[in-house]
Amino acid sequence: MRVNIHQIREMKRKGEKIAMLTAYDYSTARIVDAADIPLILVGDSLGVVVLGYESTIPVTMTEMLHHTRAVVRGSQQALVIGDMPFMTYNTSQEEALRNAARFIQEGGAQAVKLEGGVNIAGTVRRIVDCGMPVMGHIGLTPQSINQLGGYKIQGKTPQTAAKLLDDARALEQAGAFAVVLETVPSPLAALISRKISIPTIGIGAGAGCDGQVQVINDLLGLFTDFVPKHAKQYARLHDIMLNALTAYLAEVRAGKFPTEAHSFTMDESMLAGLTGR
Ligand code: KIV
Repeated sequence: MRVNIHQIREMKRKGEKIAMLTAYDYSTARIVDAADIPLILVGDSLGVVVLGYESTIPVTMTEMLHHTRAVVRGSQQALVIGDMPFMTYNTSQEEALRNAARFIQEGGAQAVKLEGGVNIAGTVRRIVDCGMPVMGHIGLTPQSINQLGGYKIQGKTPQTAAKLLDDARALEQAGAFAVVLETVPSPLAALISRKISIPTIGIGAGAGCDGQVQVINDLLGLFTDFVPKHAKQYARLHDIMLNALTAYLAEVRAGKFPTEAHSFTMDESMLAGLTGR
């Protein structure tokens, strides 16, 4: 049985911290699931860390659904959240409903995530009323990067801090089951976490949030050129993979791989008739 949104809300009530991680493919989802991480986000960060785009803006529904299905196939216990891509929920509530439904019906996700607060509260309400759980996402919202003017910390002035609290409350009122707070000063994130009843899941928002989310590629150290301030590398898979690949290359070149252990045998008399052909 997968984790459900009521268990996630209950975790906040009991003061249990909630871990969420991104995953984008079947084999990684299996490992995240085996680690008992209760929430897997198929983030539109897919565009940057898997597909090599410069931002999340080019990511399409087709790409997201393709990867969501793979993650769902690879997981059994985690609640899988599909991240709705840029402009798939903003033009009309009808279109938002249709696209949210595709994540649930075609993608197999149990919930969707939308960026925005007060501005999308009506849409969140419609999606929730149709039986589809919604996670909100406020603070640094990467789909609005051109409007925000860069990947900057959000909510540092009294006005912007108050707006973030209003956004969090609007999502709570609209029926969201949780809200991501991205790149928000820790004291503000802690205050928002105290003021709303639904769990806050922070990324670059400090320890006062009810849970944390990380992009799995950051956490596993798959990139060495850029490590965001909010990320902690729990491993350096880049180095481990590079060493493995270098060893493979050297062994193939030296004729040391494959050995008999990696090969298949046969009765060689079966080849007798072939030698003269
Ligand atoms: O797309 C993503 O991975 C996200 C997380 C950073 C919250 O939205």
